[in-house]
Amino acid sequence: MKKIVAIIRQEKLEDVKNALVEVGCQGMNLAEVKGKGRQRGLKEYYRGHNYCIEFLPKTKLEIVVNDNQVEEVVDAIIKSGRTGEIGDGKIFISNIEEVIRIRTGERGEKAV
Ligand SMILES: Nc1ncnc2c1ncn2[C@@H]1O[C@H](COP(=O)(O)OP(=O)(O)OP(=O)(O)O)[C@@H](O)[C@H]1O
Ligand SMILES: [Mg+2]
Repeated sequence: MKKIVAIIRQEKLEDVKNALVEVGCQGMNLAEVKGKGRQRGLKEYYRGHNYCIEFLPKTKLEIVVNDNQVEEVVDAIIKSGRTGEIGDGKIFISNIEEVIRIRTGERGEKAV
């Protein structure tokens, strides 16, 4: 099992969520975060000075999936979340040791 964390543009949330549901993702978490990538964020002019907003608001999605779903889910996120401009976000994938459904005690892939 793998955990897929996707940092996406806030305005792409609806499209990405719909794409995830279409490929069969059911459970997921959502968080509003502030982040920075390689660039230095937005430059903003305020009271005669240029300010740099280093951390920009982004949306973080966290989805745990079975190994055989990973590529499909990653493709869905890229297709639905991409604009081609800087700041489109990133996807991080890591291993999950165990999943347990609290209600039934089921473990592993059938609990995902
Ligand atoms: N190495 C990283 N570790 C953790 N979070 C990151 C990392 N890189 C980017 N992020 C998160 O993803 C968001 C969007 O990053 P962004 O797409 O700007 O990455 P980038 O490497 O600058 O690529 P690009 O050149 O396409 O803008 C950041 O605001 C941050 O929340
Ligand atoms: Mg960037």
